[in-house]
Amino acid sequence: MEVQFADIRSATADIIGFIMRSDEIDDFDFPLDDPEFARQTAKEAKFKASDGQSFLFFAQQGGKSVRIIVLGVGDGDPLSYEKAGGTLISKVQTCGAKTIALHTENLTGKQAASAAYGVKTKNWRMDTYRTKLSKSQQPTIETLIVVGAHAESQAQWLEMAAIADGVMLTRELVAEPANIIYPETFVERCEHLKELGVKITVLGDEEMEALGMGALLGVSQGSVRPARLLVMHWDGTNGAQERPIAFVGKGVTFDTGGISIKPAGGMEDMKWDMGGAGAVAGAMKALAGRKAKANVVGVCGLVENMPDGNAQRPGDVVTSMSGQTIEVINTDAEGRLVLCDALHWTQETYNPEYIVDLATLTGAIIISLAHEYAGLFSNSDELSDKLLASAETSGDALWRFPIGKAYDKMINSPIADMKNVGPRGGGSITAAQFLHRFIQKDVKWAHLDIAGMAWDDKAGPTYAKGATGYGVKLLNNLIAENFEV
Ligand code: BES
Ligand code: MN
Ligand code: ZN
Repeated sequence: MEVQFADIRSATADIIGFIMRSDEIDDFDFPLDDPEFARQTAKEAKFKASDGQSFLFFAQQGGKSVRIIVLGVGDGDPLSYEKAGGTLISKVQTCGAKTIALHTENLTGKQAASAAYGVKTKNWRMDTYRTKLSKSQQPTIETLIVVGAHAESQAQWLEMAAIADGVMLTRELVAEPANIIYPETFVERCEHLKELGVKITVLGDEEMEALGMGALLGVSQGSVRPARLLVMHWDGTNGAQERPIAFVGKGVTFDTGGISIKPAGGMEDMKWDMGGAGAVAGAMKALAGRKAKANVVGVCGLVENMPDGNAQRPGDVVTSMSGQTIEVINTDAEGRLVLCDALHWTQETYNPEYIVDLATLTGAIIISLAHEYAGLFSNSDELSDKLLASAETSGDALWRFPIGKAYDKMINSPIADMKNVGPRGGGSITAAQFLHRFIQKDVKWAHLDIAGMAWDDKAGPTYAKGATGYGVKLLNNLIAENFEV
């Protein structure tokens, strides 16, 4: 779907949209053949323009019958405009019409761009493998025309469009099945970021072996698919920002649990166990796409966790790149094993000042927070506050958890430096504590457990059911609000 801008509405629009606050409804000046009819219809529909409210009606316009959609944003909360855009497209996505004209004369440039962002992201679907979709089930909208936009609408849209492109890449990576997306093909799907100026480096099995990444490779050794460490570096500061901000993602392209195998029911969900890596890739695409003036490196630890004659066993002891040894009590606690080597390598190679890792790490985080927030674990109040602030502006919700010595000692092992699981309680915290043991002095680190957020079985305001794209806007806003020079 293409987004265009126009000063006035052309007669070809099949659908006409309006977005308004509750205080605008009474004397809203509908630029329609019969504005009084629109106001009357709104009254009869009990439309108060409250947040999330909308109604659709048909009216004669220039001699043809067109759909008119009116959307409310209540008090005008910044995030309600993208929700309104999402509602707009969901009402007409497959209706047969091709062009939406969205009036934005009463909106700021930012609000107009947010609405377009909602339309664009909500319109994304994964239909690749549906060969039998009937005509009536296929999306038909080809163009969104933002009408009467302010001068800054287009500039704002360039930024929002870059974020939308990032979100859609994340969703694609997350939604593709594991026979299609595995470490090598995950890398292939990210290679186009080069065209945006992202420097891409890929480490293979031999290189990681030589570096001593025994934890990451231990997870991978039961799979016939080779592992990859994908590194995406965007420096929009021309070297001015010396220490980069690093994003590190868990990219388990399929998690069977390994020898500690998961039950069959629901195991197919584990195709999205690379949601952290997917978010990192999408965030890099967004940042490069909008030429963010920051130095950011994104690292994805990509492996497949399979049971096999060559798979690692419970009780095995592996040596991580940091030199610390790990007793693998449960081969299903593999995400932390992948991340610990990716985190160590990132610090050794890039000396970042801040690191944020994202991972679909524990089922326990879903027990704690359901699908409402991702869990935030951090050694830095400063970085936590920055992340919590970008959670507010992005809508990618975060809730902070405690970490500390009492939890740390729960992962001591009698045979190695640590074990990869703790006791039953506090499973998400002991997982974070494990990662913390690989964070070097003076590095401000945050871990986001996004197991409840990467995927949704039902549709949300700006996504269809399935991959949500969680984390892209969060990371983008973290950079935009704090780290651009
Ligand atoms: N990928 C899973 C976490 C997960 C579970 C994500 C359910 C989304 C939905 C992770 O690798 C895992 O298996 N974690 C175990 C850890 C346990 C063995 C300590 C878990 O949460 O059960
Ligand atoms: Mn697992
Ligand atoms: Zn996993």
